[in-house]
Amino acid sequence: MAESRRSWLERAIYAMGGILGAALAVPAAAYLFVPPRSKKSSGWIEVAEVERLPLKSAEEVVFRHTRADGWKVTTEKATAWLVKTGDNEVTAFAPQCTHLGCVYSFDNAKSQFVCPCHTSAFSLDGQVLAGPAPRPLDQFVVKVENGKVLLGGTDKPVKA
Ligand code: FES
Repeated sequence: MAESRRSWLERAIYAMGGILGAALAVPAAAYLFVPPRSKKSSGWIEVAEVERLPLKSAEEVVFRHTRADGWKVTTEKATAWLVKTGDNEVTAFAPQCTHLGCVYSFDNAKSQFVCPCHTSAFSLDGQVLAGPAPRPLDQFVVKVENGKVLLGGTDKPVKA
């Protein structure tokens, strides 16, 4: 009787060890053998209709973009400033100041972007007009297709 109880306990302990081993081995094997997703953004994102944008002024647009980083996929809200420079020509600026990353706004009266943190100012083409900003505003890749404004590379704006 004591012998069968002992062998039953031994088998139970081995079974629990096997279950624990499998519980640890499956994620480890997945980590080793399943390739991570590369850093990718959602491609081109439609953000506006070009005919609704005011000419030679700035309009802020809000959009959602998805990005994969390793095994993690996130969808997040983002913004951009669009400046229409011609019938089918649009420039898109990333919304952070190039000094220390504050969110800037557009001053309609002065027709320039202004940063509230340290008073940098930028022209409609993103050039530094005043303040400590070390370089022009960063830009998104942009194209106009069938009257729609599309942004690309929203994970990584292009430095001017
Ligand atoms: S963060 Fe914009 S001027 Fe400093």
